[in-house]
Amino acid sequence: MAAHNQEVWQRGRVIEADYVATDIKRIVFEPTLPVKAAPGTHLTVAIEIDGAIDTRSYSIVASSDDGTRLTLSVFKTRNTRGGAILMHNLKVGDSIAMTQPMQNFPLRIGAERYVLVAGGVGVTAMVNMARVLREIGANYELVYVGRNREAMAYLDDLTALHGNRMRVFVDDEGNSLNVDKLLGSIAEHPFATETELYMCGPIRLMDGIRRSWASHGLNPPNLRFETFGNSGWFEPEDFIVRIPRLGIETTVGVGSSMLEALESAGADMMFDCRKGECGLCEVRIIDLEGEIDHRDVFFSEQQQRDNTKMCCCVSRGANPNAANGTRTVITLDVS
Ligand code: FES
Repeated sequence: MAAHNQEVWQRGRVIEADYVATDIKRIVFEPTLPVKAAPGTHLTVAIEIDGAIDTRSYSIVASSDDGTRLTLSVFKTRNTRGGAILMHNLKVGDSIAMTQPMQNFPLRIGAERYVLVAGGVGVTAMVNMARVLREIGANYELVYVGRNREAMAYLDDLTALHGNRMRVFVDDEGNSLNVDKLLGSIAEHPFATETELYMCGPIRLMDGIRRSWASHGLNPPNLRFETFGNSGWFEPEDFIVRIPRLGIETTVGVGSSMLEALESAGADMMFDCRKGECGLCEVRIIDLEGEIDHRDVFFSEQQQRDNTKMCCCVSRGANPNAANGTRTVITLDVS
C-alpha cells in the first residue's frame, strides 16, 4: 500500500535504539499495521507531556520492504519542548502510538538529474531518497552539510554507499558550503532545467538556497523542500503576545509555540501543518515591540519584511538587539 496523507493510528514497538551522532538517536519501530515507507515520508507520534497528549512528526530514515521496521532519528535540541527527551528515553520493548507513514515530500522519479542537500539532522529526510536514487541508477548528487563530523548522523554509512556521488561540507573544518557556487554549478549544467533539488536543513541554509535558486533563474517547481525541525534566525526566547479583542495576554516560553500558547489561553485557532507551510495559522500583527523571527516558508520575503502577518505555529518574537530582560510584545488579531 502506498503512503498517503490520512492519519491511520497504530502502535509501534521499539526494537532497536542507539545514538548515531551527538544528540541524535536512531530508533527502529515495529508497527502493528506495517506499510512500506516511500522516500519523503514521515510519521507522527503521540506523546504525553505534562499530562497532555501532544504530537511530533519525524522523517522516516529507512523502511524494510514489508514495513515491519521503520527507522526514525530524533535530535534533542537545547530548547526541546520535551518530545525529544521522551523519544530519547524510549527503550527496546517500549511501545508508543504512531501513524502509518504519510507523504508530503514525494520524490518524483524520472528527472534527468537530482541534487539532494541535507543540513544537519535534515539528513533524515534524505537518506531514503538517496538510497532509492542509487538503486534505480538515477543521475544524482548528495550534498551533506554539518557543523562538525560528530554531529552528522549516518555520515560514514552514506559515504560508503554513495562514494563520489556525495560531497561533504563541515563548518569546523573550514570547509563550509558555498551555496551560490553550488547553485551556479546547477545553472551551468547541461541538465539545468531538468535538475530537481530536494533539501532539508536549517532555515539559513534553506533560505540561502531558495534565494540563489531564484537569482539563477532556475525552474521554481524543481525546488522541493521539507521543513521539519526548522531552526530560526535567532535563538528562541520568551515573548509576550496579546489579542485585545479577546482579552488575551500570554507569555510564549522557549519550550512552546505561539500557536500552543494561544490555544492554552483560550483562543480558537485555525491550523493544519504546524510546520510553517500551509499558512492556515496566519495571524494579523497590529502592533510590534521588538522583532519577528519568521520561520515559515509560506509567506514571501516581502510579506515577511512587512511584518503585518505571521505563521504562529513556527514563527516567534525575537529581540536580538535589546538589552537583557526586554521582551518582545506582539499585539495581534485572529480571524
Ligand atoms: S499551521 Fe500550517 S503554517 Fe502554521
